[in-house]
Amino acid sequence: MTDATSISDHWAKGDVYARILDTMKRAGLDPDTVTVEQLAPVDHFHARGFPATVELADALPVSQGDRLVDIGCGLGGPARYLARRFGCEVDGIDITAPFVEAANKLSELVGMQDDVRCVHGDGQKLPFKDATFDGGYTQHVTMNVPDRAAFFAEAFRVLKPGAFFALTEHGLGETGAPHHPVPWSEDGSGAYLMRPADTVAALERAGFAGIEVTDTGAKYVEGYKRAMEMARKGETPVFGVHILLGPQAPQIVQNAARNIEERRTHPVQIICVKPG
Ligand SMILES: C[S@@+](CC[C@H](N)C(=O)[O-])C[C@H]1O[C@@H](n2cnc3c(N)ncnc32)[C@H](O)[C@@H]1O
Repeated sequence: MTDATSISDHWAKGDVYARILDTMKRAGLDPDTVTVEQLAPVDHFHARGFPATVELADALPVSQGDRLVDIGCGLGGPARYLARRFGCEVDGIDITAPFVEAANKLSELVGMQDDVRCVHGDGQKLPFKDATFDGGYTQHVTMNVPDRAAFFAEAFRVLKPGAFFALTEHGLGETGAPHHPVPWSEDGSGAYLMRPADTVAALERAGFAGIEVTDTGAKYVEGYKRAMEMARKGETPVFGVHILLGPQAPQIVQNAARNIEERRTHPVQIICVKPG
């Protein structure tokens, strides 16, 4: 089994779109009239979900008509949000085929198939021409990426001079190995966390400049604890990311919070630019 296959199997856990559709109906959402906003509790599949995408978008210099690349686009929620908010186009790519299939079907459901196109592939070798995009981002993907040099070099290659590149990730903390399972790995396999300082150095080696790093750990812990409290009270919404995380979801959320608090992980948002 290749690493790509095991990473894809880790994230997909079966027929993703069927599970989303089934849960949508159980939550009282009609697939024929569902909106981008109603999909948000599931299709922003990263720490803090939709609010974190909005905060990232607030910090990005996107203009109407831009073409962006979303590397590790998952179910396409962030891509649809950015396309709708800024009037831009987004090309997504993801290593997990069932996510790509679900992303494209969800875009069709909300009539956004012409604005957001997702393809199956590996961020370490992008199927796009040089200098294609006005901006790029990768949210909570790089924890699973063994060759950061190739991943960042590919992002750099497909961006136009002057384009932005943004990434959010759980970096490696200072105190020891993370507790597992976590969202990106059940037992440490397929996990390639790096210290934020090493990530910055790797971005610089790829050619990026103007690198701004923001610690996001405190906000993530707040979000995880809110989810844990809702679960404790039996108030977890029917339509939420737990349907993607599987039966281990409570332990995964608890470990994700504990790892940050014990400084085993160090989450960051990083924004930089390909020099013009
Ligand atoms: C936590 S999900 C985030 C999905 C999406 N970025 C979001 O924020 O909703 C992590 C995603 O990274 C994808 N991924 C992991 N390694 C990848 C790689 N080398 N190339 C492309 N996608 C990758 C996984 O398939 C998964 O969809």
